[in-house]
Amino acid sequence: MLNTKKDIEWSSLGFGYVKTDYRYVSNYKDGNWDDGVLSADETVTINESAGVLQYAQTCFEGLKAYTTVDGHVVCFRPDLNAQRMAESCKRLEMPVFPQERFIDAVVKTVKANIDYVPPYGSGATLYLRPYMFGSNPVIGVKPAVEFQFRIFATPVGPYFKGGVKPISLRVPDFDRAAPKGTGHVKAGLNYAMSLHAIVDAHNQGYNENMYLDSATRTKVEETGGANIIFVTKDNKVVTPKSSTILPSITRRSLMYVAKEYLGLETEEREILFDEIENFKECALCGTAAVLSPVGKVVNNGREIVYGMDGMGEITKKLYDTLTGIQMGRIDAPEGWIKVIQ
Ligand code: PLP
Ligand code: COI
Repeated sequence: MLNTKKDIEWSSLGFGYVKTDYRYVSNYKDGNWDDGVLSADETVTINESAGVLQYAQTCFEGLKAYTTVDGHVVCFRPDLNAQRMAESCKRLEMPVFPQERFIDAVVKTVKANIDYVPPYGSGATLYLRPYMFGSNPVIGVKPAVEFQFRIFATPVGPYFKGGVKPISLRVPDFDRAAPKGTGHVKAGLNYAMSLHAIVDAHNQGYNENMYLDSATRTKVEETGGANIIFVTKDNKVVTPKSSTILPSITRRSLMYVAKEYLGLETEEREILFDEIENFKECALCGTAAVLSPVGKVVNNGREIVYGMDGMGEITKKLYDTLTGIQMGRIDAPEGWIKVIQ
């Protein structure tokens, strides 16, 4: 078969934007979504007073398309992205883009950019970014009435430079989410407010921030772009339970994999910062982060070290099983894999 793949050095890709050929665009007006099109235009033209520009009325999702070991192209649990985006939209007074249409739009976007789906074994994947924003002019503080839903695709490599090299976190002096705020949805505003904290973390030599709950500043929450899992000394996989963190699809999948594939005990519960020195492994999990080992966490000069040499034993097993399912090497639970081609 003719290889029509783009001439990209797949294994050198980082996590950045690469323009691809088509993106999906649908507009909401007078209470209805239009039919949606694939567009070659990567630019967006909106009114200067659009709701997204003035009051940040926008939310997004992230998922990936993978080439499997037998040459298919698949997505991982896109139904859960559709559901989570619906929750984000409701919280932000935006209209829901229906689940079946969301999945259809994902399929169309991947098919239209099929030559950008990195080959099996390259270490890269095609990242898909569905998002929605208020597009008509508003000036009083109120929701827009017109919206645009888009999905673009961009081939990506590892989120953290150096691939699976352990990363370092610090506990910032900043909070990410208020107790009854928007931490549990994927609102653009959550990321806007984390930008200063991430620049500051990088300036201090850390890869990411480990946020604590803003009400008591005693419990572990998540980082700016991933949930956190820990492994106890007796191999239990534990993860923070909180109403102010994003319900990560990767984390929910990993907890299932830990229990059902690896036979490990799992627990979702409140985790005090003071107890994390008792754990033996720590990792970040998310679509972009996949499962990135955490080597150390620093809080006001106090250092907790898990090991800067490589992935812990249980983290590695979880990583191999999850990526094995995503790449078709290991049988997936019913409904987890959406075959696109
Ligand atoms: N937490 C935050 C704040 C995120 O931005 C993400 C990324 O989507 C995650 C967690 C991980 O979620 P998922 O595994 O669904 O990608
Ligand atoms: C993802 O993992 O898809 C994310 O959205 C995280 C980050 C890039 C914001």
